[in-house]
Amino acid sequence: MLSLRPEDHALIEGLIERMSLAQKVGQILQTERLAITPEEVRDHHVGSVLSGGGSCPGDNRPSDWVSMNDAYWAASMTEGPGRLPIPILYGVDAVHGHSNVRGATVFPHNINLGAINDPDLVRRIGRATAREVLSTGVDWTFAPTLAVARDRRWGRTYESCSEDPALVARLAPAFVEGLQGDLDDEGIAACLKHFVGDGGTSEGIEQGDTRVDEAELRRIHLAPYPPALAAGALTVMASFNSWNGDKCHGHRYLLTDLLKGELGFEGLVISDWDGIDYLDDDYSQCVARGLNAGIDLFMVSENWRTFLKTVERQVREGIVHESRLDDAVRRILRVKVALGLFTKPRPARRPLAKQPVLGCPEHRALAREAVRRSLVLLKNDDALLPLARTARVLLAGKSANDLGNQCGGFTVEWQGASGNHLIEGGSTVFDGIRALASACDLDPEGRSADPTKHDVAVVVIGERPYAEGLGDIRSGEDVLIREGSQIRGTLKTLEPYGQEAALEALHPEDLETLTRIKANGVPVITVMLCGRPLATDPELAQSNAFLVAWLPGSEGAGIGEALFGAQPEGEALFPGRLPFAWPKDGGAPQWQGDEQENVRFPRGFPWPR
Ligand code: GLC
Repeated sequence: MLSLRPEDHALIEGLIERMSLAQKVGQILQTERLAITPEEVRDHHVGSVLSGGGSCPGDNRPSDWVSMNDAYWAASMTEGPGRLPIPILYGVDAVHGHSNVRGATVFPHNINLGAINDPDLVRRIGRATAREVLSTGVDWTFAPTLAVARDRRWGRTYESCSEDPALVARLAPAFVEGLQGDLDDEGIAACLKHFVGDGGTSEGIEQGDTRVDEAELRRIHLAPYPPALAAGALTVMASFNSWNGDKCHGHRYLLTDLLKGELGFEGLVISDWDGIDYLDDDYSQCVARGLNAGIDLFMVSENWRTFLKTVERQVREGIVHESRLDDAVRRILRVKVALGLFTKPRPARRPLAKQPVLGCPEHRALAREAVRRSLVLLKNDDALLPLARTARVLLAGKSANDLGNQCGGFTVEWQGASGNHLIEGGSTVFDGIRALASACDLDPEGRSADPTKHDVAVVVIGERPYAEGLGDIRSGEDVLIREGSQIRGTLKTLEPYGQEAALEALHPEDLETLTRIKANGVPVITVMLCGRPLATDPELAQSNAFLVAWLPGSEGAGIGEALFGAQPEGEALFPGRLPFAWPKDGGAPQWQGDEQENVRFPRGFPWPR
């Protein structure tokens, strides 16, 4: 719940009474920084601006971000005839650290945090992320994702902590507590997303249709929201997916009756990226349905002028009651008051704006702890691990020295990118191993494997970066036609990552490397970077030890620390547990109750849970 004082409510109601229709309509708009200038924010009374994935000002330095936010803030606070000073709210996808910004600490993705399952660590990461976000003048992150991903073919599986709703529900409040804190100078607004059922679509199709009865929707996909709301989350993002054919963005029962009524949510509901556009062929219908369903703030990537005109006309024509518009404005103002935006100085004068917080050593050490603790050991024949410091290591695999593959999507660019050109600071797996091994030869294809020179090979393999629908795995476009036909509205899809959730099908180069090294008589320790479980029986067979690192982020040295047993005193070695079952084959998961059947390793492996 929002804890606002009587004077806060008085301020909000007083503003609403004084606001013109144009000022109210402007307040419910969020648009992308590339689509609007500070002057246009001022002239159209715009309430919020965002950075889409990879949309970064200037040279993408904290000072560039602070200058940009300062300009938008000053524009929004302009007073004068027909202008009311209402501070802008700037949002960004700081989903694993402030990962858009060069030099930020890129924490492991949520799938890693699910493998650790420690609310205290999640809280500490949230706090560090909030500090780095605030150092750039931003007040709001579109995180945490509370998806309970039920099909590994979904391109956003790595944004989910687990297939187990109880595990996600356990971590959910910790994200909010870490990010928001006491909403003092070190707190930012959290955003619970995507409401609701994003991880349950048929065939794992991003933005697809979640076909479950209400009892199952509540038991699985809604489960993380009550504890997160109770922790005081200020914002919720509506989901692109449909529920039994009806899109969440136009679903009054879900957004208003359930979220705002039954669950008592008093903050704001934001649409996803042009999310209302897919409700109907007629844009006016899209706007009216979204607003009347309970969306309060509209993320409109470009066509914000059309949006403003449409809303104003619909209110004048009574298609949207002004009371609904007032309620939306009220919720937005509540969030801004709760964040202290009406009393804080301009971004450039806020406490953290001058601090060298971004990518600081303390945060990187925290990220290395998360990396070490999220590693899941699936195989360790003859107790090959941990390695002795005297080991002569051959380091191979396409991801042995690749920050981009470690970080995955939503890293500096929307989709992220392989290589070391995007991410500043941090360490690769190579950096970590060469700091600890007596000898370390880097040879990505492993052609120099020689048992007279190498005691062991560490081979870092797996997926390349992707985000959202570009990460989906599906067997063919017929799947889309079949599943999309069940949805009332438009299904937006992107080119999938592959056709089968099996590593050999997606990246045959990895098995080739493992086989080559094994054939030369050097024992193989496989380290797999991936955004989800994949069938890996052939790769497991070529490995003496097999470690899943998921998407560890910028601090890859944590992997080397674990491989050599160099973790701090008191920290267990390889404590990670599978947050998702690990498959035998690349097809659809087979659920039997709350467990998947026909798996190579069940959720929770290695025991104990
Ligand atoms: C994207 C994602 C959402 C993100 C938003 C802003 O489409 O669905 O998770 O917060 O757009 O980048």
